[in-house]
Amino acid sequence: MSNAPLLTGVDLVDVTRLQYMIEQSGSEFLTSGWSTAELNLCEGDASRLAARWAAKEATMKALGNGIGTFSPLDIEVISDNVGAPSLRLQGTAQQRAEELKVEYWSLALSHEGGFALAFVVALAGGRNV
Ligand SMILES: CC(C)(COP(=O)(O)OP(=O)(O)OC[C@H]1O[C@@H](n2cnc3c(N)ncnc32)[C@H](O)[C@@H]1OP(=O)(O)O)[C@@H](O)C(=O)NCCC(=O)NCCS
Repeated sequence: MSNAPLLTGVDLVDVTRLQYMIEQSGSEFLTSGWSTAELNLCEGDASRLAARWAAKEATMKALGNGIGTFSPLDIEVISDNVGAPSLRLQGTAQQRAEELKVEYWSLALSHEGGFALAFVVALAGGRNV
């Protein structure tokens, strides 16, 4: 990984494929992939769940690690009162962010036409500035 002060991650999820996985795997997959708050907010809407899955993978990319290193539950999407999303990290994802000196995260989500996309930017202030 470079020493740049900006870290980015992007991910695109096929909503139909994710919905199939949810139907096949049931509640265990849901509760291991999304927090209770995320599940309550999405109310079973596969596009919104897919956007949050994309956010978790995009964040893993920004942190330079993939699934297996972090639990999906260590990366949570929270939404403010106007619907704008942001990231809340814990556990090993938070530890990795601290190692990289991440001071600020920005997250954008979109879902349309059977796909969900997340774009993540991290400002790693202590790095090479
Ligand atoms: C935000 C907005 C432009 C979304 O556009 P859209 O084409 O309908 O939908 P998209 O699929 O591209 O994006 C949906 C995602 O936008 C995000 N979003 C919603 N409101 C947002 C806001 N105020 N700021 C940033 N992101 C927002 C959410 O993450 C949402 O996904 P979610 O509902 O699963 O959490 C639309 O909801 C809107 O016009 N809201 C009111 C005005 C506003 O708040 N604008 C701020 C950004 S210009």
